[in-house]
Amino acid sequence: MPDHIIIKNKIRNFNKKINISSDKSISIRSILVASQAVGISKISNLLESEDVLNTLKAIKNLGINYKKKGNICYIHGFGLNGFNISKNTTINAGNSGTLARLILGLLVKSKFKVKLTGDKSLSKRDFSRVIKPLKLMGANIKSKNNLLPIEISGSKFLRPIEYDENIGSAQVKSCLMLSALNTPGKTIINSKISRNHTELMLKFLKYPIKVQIKKDIERISIQGLSQFKAFDYNVPGDISSAAFFIVLTILTQNSRMIIKNVNINKSRIGVITILNKMGGNIKLKKIKTYNGEKIADIYVKSKKNLKAVNCPSYLNSSAIDEFLIIFLAAAKAKGTSKFKDLGEMNKKESKRLDIAVKFLKLIGVKVKRFKNDINIYGNPKLNLSGNFEMKNFLKDHRIFFLACITALTLGGEWKINDKESINTSLPNFLNILKILGAKIN
Ligand code: S3P
Repeated sequence: MPDHIIIKNKIRNFNKKINISSDKSISIRSILVASQAVGISKISNLLESEDVLNTLKAIKNLGINYKKKGNICYIHGFGLNGFNISKNTTINAGNSGTLARLILGLLVKSKFKVKLTGDKSLSKRDFSRVIKPLKLMGANIKSKNNLLPIEISGSKFLRPIEYDENIGSAQVKSCLMLSALNTPGKTIINSKISRNHTELMLKFLKYPIKVQIKKDIERISIQGLSQFKAFDYNVPGDISSAAFFIVLTILTQNSRMIIKNVNINKSRIGVITILNKMGGNIKLKKIKTYNGEKIADIYVKSKKNLKAVNCPSYLNSSAIDEFLIIFLAAAKAKGTSKFKDLGEMNKKESKRLDIAVKFLKLIGVKVKRFKNDINIYGNPKLNLSGNFEMKNFLKDHRIFFLACITALTLGGEWKINDKESINTSLPNFLNILKILGAKIN
């Protein structure tokens, strides 16, 4: 089977109700947290993707058993630091920065040495953001230039710290929260606002954690060494995956879509705020709270005349994985859209800001970049013809999705390589597109 797809036609109008795959961040967290609980946790609707599978493999390597029955995964934890290994072991985090960074937090007290590795993309990513604070907590970590492979072995001298997390990285604050579970005393993290699934999950489990928000800083106090019981959890749909279908609908004439049961945590829905500022008509209905997280059905319909947006940077962290597809909407909008301080995009599965600029130029969109700010000069009449090929994007799943949605909404004949990358986060991406009527070979 070739690892590329061909798209030669725009998608026709559609009117559909879809379910989107489960949230990746919450799936990974639920497995890691269940690995520290006492007893058998029952997690329903885990995302079936490689990042999540690698998380299950990781806890298995650390002596935690799990069993899957239908859409339920049973995870048998032995409490805090309950990993059961009898020799040095290796964990391969694959493509997942979230798994790699969060699991380091759980290994600060490991009885044996654990080596953490990853794929080509993850091996280029910088781990100093977690290595530095973990070392302050007393962790034993070895790495060359803060890159994978990393070796971590348990420390007897763990101490709680107060740490200022200035990047706005949920992976960093979550890594520290997980290491705080195994550290005596009270760890305090003053974190720039970012997705708060770990905090909500620990609160849902009645773990002693306190969160105060002052302006754009979240102050998290977390008491270590408090055991908690196994739990039942149901993972909602992923807004980061839904985002691609939202923009597909907005840019396809006479179309409508309902996306069921999507997580609409405030720290994740920047994409909806930004697209609505551009004139999108996205509505959240049937809002409910489940396991501490907010869930809703998303209603979206096409919009002919999008307008440019001057995107306030306080929305950056809540849309960090969605800017690629927001840029496509900006390319079709009337006027110049402005985005600022997006340096973090270059620290993802690929250098997404660099690639986005190249991509927009490839499809004939005028872009101006000043360091981490970009201006996109939109053109509502933008339509493509001729041949386009996408390759060399480090198999980044979200670049693949972007190219597909571009082909289906703007036209042209596209060859898009690295189809397998969809397995990172949304293995049924192409199937959903086909259900909507897309012709993909
Ligand atoms: C994630 C946090 C974000 C995001 C990533 C998933 C998480 O990364 O980009 O896809 O699950 O915590 P940062 O924490 O590095 O911003």
